[in-house]
Amino acid sequence: MTSLAIAVLAAGRGTRMRNGLAKVLHPLGGRPLLGHVLATAAALEPAALVVVLDPCSEEVAAYVTAECPGARIVWQDPPRGTGDATRRAAEAVGDADRLLVLYGDTPLLGADRLRAMIERHATAGAAATVLAFRPARREGYGRLRLAEDGRLLEIVEERHAEPELLAGAPCNAGVMLLELEAARPLLSRLPLRPEKGESYLTDLVAALVAAARSCVAVEADPEEALGVNSQRELAELEAVFQRRRREAMLEGGVIMPVPETVFLAFDTEIGPGAVIEPQVVFGPGVRIAAGARVRSFSHLEGAEVAAGAVVGPFARLRPGSRLGEGARVGNFVETKNAVLGTGAKANHLAYLGDATVGEGANIGAGTITCNYDGVAKHRTEIGRRAFVGSNSALVAPVRIGAEAIVGAGSTITRDVPDRAVAVARGGQQVKPGRAPDLRQRFARRRAEKAAKE
Ligand code: UD1
Ligand code: CA
Repeated sequence: MTSLAIAVLAAGRGTRMRNGLAKVLHPLGGRPLLGHVLATAAALEPAALVVVLDPCSEEVAAYVTAECPGARIVWQDPPRGTGDATRRAAEAVGDADRLLVLYGDTPLLGADRLRAMIERHATAGAAATVLAFRPARREGYGRLRLAEDGRLLEIVEERHAEPELLAGAPCNAGVMLLELEAARPLLSRLPLRPEKGESYLTDLVAALVAAARSCVAVEADPEEALGVNSQRELAELEAVFQRRRREAMLEGGVIMPVPETVFLAFDTEIGPGAVIEPQVVFGPGVRIAAGARVRSFSHLEGAEVAAGAVVGPFARLRPGSRLGEGARVGNFVETKNAVLGTGAKANHLAYLGDATVGEGANIGAGTITCNYDGVAKHRTEIGRRAFVGSNSALVAPVRIGAEAIVGAGSTITRDVPDRAVAVARGGQQVKPGRAPDLRQRFARRRAEKAAKE
């Protein structure tokens, strides 16, 4: 049995991104570009997975270690091109027979496409198989020179390609499958190209052909092999990613009347029959059950919403929010680390942080759980069917008992037992007939002040 290793090339800062963040850590659908590639690589269950990084990429290394502990990091110091990176990867994968090279800046490729490519490589008996595609905008990609019978002869980088090749030939997607026995000796002999001082993996194809080994190309669809070199390309890819995710959601029975205004993350899960109104943003880690409704202008991340629950309009669910069946979180309500039981309601203007709200409890407008004392976070527990009056401050740690009532405007600092009524606010004073006097006093004061000035 032939064993497959995968190398993900991710060295270099990506200077064309023009900012301090490593290119492969830029997010697409809420996940770094490299995370998409690592997930695809892992799905192929390779015998070895290596990620090529340069020593300036410590934050990338930390990400790889956290996200994909099975991957091995290979340092490229200094980064001398994709040819040099592949040579180092080939050295690191031990006795694997085949090496699949993926680029860390090409995030949309799916595992199915790569499986088909691996199959084709085997049946063709090729020494190298290259993934080709024909994107709408071709700038920046290498071009494939094919023989009349379709064999792959060489890959020519854009700056070296003649006009006919630039106009007519398919582009190099940046995915190559290599027979290591054939590629290893040639990888160490790739020339350093003077314009960049780098060796190009793409030059390996001509070298294999010169050594009488056969190379083939397989074509991918025009979108899935798009690479990211600039902010503009990243934004274009985000648009493609969003469109595909929305289509998949609609396909799965999600009701989304204006899909192009809904932003999904790579891992958003929405059950069939759930309604997502226009202008909703999903950050990572959200699960919406079948039959729930997310109303317009809501922002959710790290949240679970059960069937029949309604979120928004204008709600913000932060990580650790869990809404039970039929629960409601309405306008200008923010939740964080908050669990709302079945049918619990916080319909307007509230902050529920580090809180548990029992089944059927009602949280009045303007209620705040004061969860942070400047040093540590504390929990608020609200029992089932409790009623918290408007504009109450619940100073955690504190517990409101089941079926208890908190009077509006209370600042609650001590536990309220089950079924108790707690009111904690200044008493109201009423002074009959005093309003005209008071107005006169205010007017006098204003006149005195004006005279002084
Ligand atoms: C490369 C290809 C081009 C192809 C395009 C597809 C070469 C010479 N050119 O061009 O034919 O059409 O990708 O997107 O391969 N990297 C390293 N070490 C290095 C240099 C790069 O690991 O020394 C990594 C980068 O992090 C990146 C990938 O290799 O993920 C590709 O490098 P990049 O500089 O973006 O190559 P392109 O110019 O896009
Ligand atoms: Ca690139």
